[in-house]
Amino acid sequence: MAKIGKAVFPVAGLGTRFLPATKASPKEMLPVVDKPLIQYAAEEAEDAGATHLVFITGRHKRSIEDHFDKAYELESELAAAGKTELLEIVQNILPERVNCIYLRQAEALGLGHAVLCAKPVIGREPFAIILADDLIYTDGKGVCEQMAEVHERTGASVLSVQEVPPDETNKYGIVETERQADGSLRVISIVEKPAPNDAPSNLAVVGRYLLNPGIFDKLEQTRPGAGGEIQLTDAIAALLQDELVIAHPFEGKRYDCGSKLGYLEATVEYALNHPELGEAFRTYLRALQA
Ligand code: UTP
Repeated sequence: MAKIGKAVFPVAGLGTRFLPATKASPKEMLPVVDKPLIQYAAEEAEDAGATHLVFITGRHKRSIEDHFDKAYELESELAAAGKTELLEIVQNILPERVNCIYLRQAEALGLGHAVLCAKPVIGREPFAIILADDLIYTDGKGVCEQMAEVHERTGASVLSVQEVPPDETNKYGIVETERQADGSLRVISIVEKPAPNDAPSNLAVVGRYLLNPGIFDKLEQTRPGAGGEIQLTDAIAALLQDELVIAHPFEGKRYDCGSKLGYLEATVEYALNHPELGEAFRTYLRALQA
């Protein structure tokens, strides 16, 4: 199985689209049914073999550290009450082979800056980046594992992409691609949030990347771009001048949980698929419609 060793979770953003919910607690802790977004993201990385989860945190993000930490009082109370199923759920949030590393991004200077904060712990190896607010449901392999396979085959950096409605290009990094002999899509240009008329395509980069460590050199040279932030997109634009970058149209359904509507869609669909709740929830929705 193709594997990644380390996954970076930039969670230092301000989450302004979800205020006031995100005033004092991180948007990555918003639950979809019964699990916070960050746990879905961690599980996707673990399924792809990640042994080191690197969180780039900021103020008000303590609850993420607590979530992945041992909860002594809770565990002993559940054990004493004989609630073994719940105890297992709490104990299995993080497999034993997985380590969490927390780094602080003192100021929210942009996604690129957040990723650069991870440089000391990543070293010179390829690594994944997962934006937990992009929740992606897959029937089979998770997107992280799909990217690891593309990387194993090609040695390239990999960007997960999806077609978006042409009038929404200004919300995403947009790529221009060229099909190669093996069928894969080589990225020839990338631009952050272009207006529909300026967009080279409607192929948008979503919150999953597998990057070669050369990205750190590019990030160090990247000046603040759109919105005064250090943009990961600008560093990727520089990287693809030097090395192969592939766009991977992932298999799966993405929910933009950084937006209220996307979050609600995820909640409804995950609830409908939930093994315990699904039936009752479906009945409830039907009754609402009647
Ligand atoms: P977003 O563009 O979604 O920004 O960041 P945001 O602050 O989280 O949310 P809104 O737009 O204000 O509602 C994309 C990802 O980059 C991280 C965020 O945590 C999110 O996962 N990020 C962004 C950082 O870690 N640091 C930054 O300085 C900026």
